[in-house]
Amino acid sequence: MNDKSCGVLRKTEDKERTSMAQRRWRMLARALTRSPEPLIEPEDVISVRRFTNFNLVKPKLLENAPVDPKSSWYEYSCVVDNDLFAVLVRRINKTFTANELIGFNNTGNVCVWPSEECLGYYLLKNQRICRNKTVLELGGGMSCLAGVLVAKYCGPSGVTLTDGNVTSVDNVRCIIARNNMADFVKCGVVQWARAANVLRQAASGHRVQTWSPETVDESRRTEGLYDVILSADCLFFDDVRLDLVETIYGWLADDGIALIMAPRRGMTFQKFADAAVKRGFLARQIERYDADVWARHLELGDNCQEYCADIHYPVLLELTKQKKTPPG
Ligand SMILES: C[S@@+](CC[C@H](N)C(=O)[O-])C[C@H]1O[C@@H](n2cnc3c(N)ncnc32)[C@H](O)[C@@H]1O
Repeated sequence: MNDKSCGVLRKTEDKERTSMAQRRWRMLARALTRSPEPLIEPEDVISVRRFTNFNLVKPKLLENAPVDPKSSWYEYSCVVDNDLFAVLVRRINKTFTANELIGFNNTGNVCVWPSEECLGYYLLKNQRICRNKTVLELGGGMSCLAGVLVAKYCGPSGVTLTDGNVTSVDNVRCIIARNNMADFVKCGVVQWARAANVLRQAASGHRVQTWSPETVDESRRTEGLYDVILSADCLFFDDVRLDLVETIYGWLADDGIALIMAPRRGMTFQKFADAAVKRGFLARQIERYDADVWARHLELGDNCQEYCADIHYPVLLELTKQKKTPPG
């Protein structure tokens, strides 16, 4: 590249940086002035979060889907060992008002996060993990992509998809119906603080009403604990970290496994892992859980300016319950 083209590039980059900064200031200004205008606009989301996925599970807009300004249908597909896997996913096209952002967390309605993509990809490559198992996803956002891929391709004995956000869960219900899974996939609102409180009360001997995603949302009771619990990019909520640990501990079968993927995001991943160990889990952190994800990570590190491993590369945390060894 010659000096001239470098200069042109630099000018363009400067311009992009300035307009990105302007957009961020606009967002901040709106937040501070409590304007009723939408706080996040699609362009802001793109500018703030320019790295969007690892391109392993690829979204393709369905051109012939019914027209709805509030949502769009995509086919999410990937190829593993020459086999094609594909599910239909409805994405919410929405601008978020200040009120909505102040209300229950909306991060799961903004996009399908890279951790969800990588978790789904990993499970497709390791289908035996969920085969004949009961699977629960917590904090699956508007897509629960990993859980949907498991339901369609991994032969689980049951799947329950959850999030704390009602809009996300309504969207997941549409996805379940469109993928013809309504007869074997359950879906419900689960807020970790609420679930954890019920579990704590039960542990302290209080008689409490049995509570599960099904009882809250669909007046149905769960048949038991889960063999596999999934969660993607849910470890950065400081105020509910211990509640999430408690919910996983309380709902995981003794010989079950929780597979949690999340970027390190400062100390948030480590804080969660520490809390899980303190609660009684064996925790294993795995950076290189898949050769393809790792190769993409290295490639992005070399070639993509927006890629920052700390906030984008999902690390896998495996949680199992410590086995009680008999005395002597
Ligand atoms: C960053 S998003 C990740 C969503 C999805 N797993 C993905 O990766 O695309 C975090 C998710 O956690 C959910 N969440 C946050 N706090 C929660 C809580 N207290 N109880 C249940 N879900 C919660 C949000 O609704 C959101 O969907």
